[in-house]
Amino acid sequence: MIQKFGSNAEVIENGDKYLYGNHIRMPIAMARGEGCWVYDEDGNKYLDYVGGIAVNGLGHCHPRIAACLKERAETMLHCSNYFYNEPAVQTAKMLVENSCFDKVLYANSGAEANEGQIKLARKYAKDHGHPERFVVITMKNSFHGRTLATCTATGQYGVHRYFEPLPDGFRYAEFNNLQSVLDLVDEYTAAILTEPVQGEGGVRPADPEFLKGLRKLCDEKGILLMFDEVQVGSGRTGKLFAYQHYGVEPDCCSIAKALGSGVPIAAVCARGDAAKTLTPGTHGSTFAGGPLACALAMTTLDVMLNEGVLDNCAKVGEYFRARAHEVVEKKHPGAVKEIRGLGLINGIELTKESGQEVVDLCFRDSKVLINNTSGNVLRFIPPLVTTEEEVDIVLAAVDQAMTKLGW
Ligand SMILES: Cc1ncc(COP(=O)(O)O)c(C=O)c1O
Repeated sequence: MIQKFGSNAEVIENGDKYLYGNHIRMPIAMARGEGCWVYDEDGNKYLDYVGGIAVNGLGHCHPRIAACLKERAETMLHCSNYFYNEPAVQTAKMLVENSCFDKVLYANSGAEANEGQIKLARKYAKDHGHPERFVVITMKNSFHGRTLATCTATGQYGVHRYFEPLPDGFRYAEFNNLQSVLDLVDEYTAAILTEPVQGEGGVRPADPEFLKGLRKLCDEKGILLMFDEVQVGSGRTGKLFAYQHYGVEPDCCSIAKALGSGVPIAAVCARGDAAKTLTPGTHGSTFAGGPLACALAMTTLDVMLNEGVLDNCAKVGEYFRARAHEVVEKKHPGAVKEIRGLGLINGIELTKESGQEVVDLCFRDSKVLINNTSGNVLRFIPPLVTTEEEVDIVLAAVDQAMTKLGW
């Protein structure tokens, strides 16, 4: 019998004793959730605008997700890629039918999907008569994951530090600066990889002209344009894929996070020749595309596409930005540098060095959970089913925190 810890204090004490110390955690132990609200082990209730770092797209314990999990538990959880399974095919069909892509390759995490894209780019070059091409150009301030290749693809020294020598084959351009990409392209370039909206890098949407320029450049050079939509795909921006805001179609694109509503699943969606590159024996993973994760992804996509979630995301996202100008920027003009976002990924960039004090005060005084990224950008990535009333609660908490700080 497992003896339940049962309180915040006991979970935290044991957590500090037994968990590896590679994360800084807030001092609460999550017990359960409902919609946009979560409860800790002591029964305190919080408004969740972290959303599992953009994972809980349908909110906590959505009834369709709960029913799907129950059904899966009683049918089949895993069968391996030696066989077909219906949820994997249904999910891929939905992704293809609602995008520019032709095929779906499954993975288990955002990093793994990006690792797949990097391998795809190298093989694509070889398949097309360019064995010398192996370099992927990525952007400064980007984030692509924590495996050795994807942390190297990430354009941030803080993510590289301690892990040298890094794998070869990555160069870093300035995000939203086409010339800086042009300056790096040479005979060794295999692909360009970018987030259409940088998430960890401070909630920075790409300029449409930048992405259009990248598309043109890739077409001219015969190299791949690869998007990382791990954070901003799966409905986060109010469209299924963020690229759909821009009228620019990448050759392939990684998605993860909200796709499985909390169960690990990721995918590389690819089109044209990029959808034919990874042949048997070149890539794969034991768990990827299993029936459990795919059934949840299939249900998640069905709810997103057919139950008004994307429309809600776009509408409440606009409301968020309009109200943030009124409630936060106008009241604290000296503290706010910029408010930006797309759908329900939004950031308030501060003029201060850090936003952590605001995050801590929202948590302690208002029981509102937000986070701080890229040093001084307050980031809001709630479930896509959040309401305007909940936006008001969150922004009131931010306003109160800034007032308390004397900002
Ligand atoms: C844009 C982007 N790419 C990749 C990753 C890595 O995903 P994962 O943590 O699932 O490996 C993240 C995670 O935050 C991300 O935001």
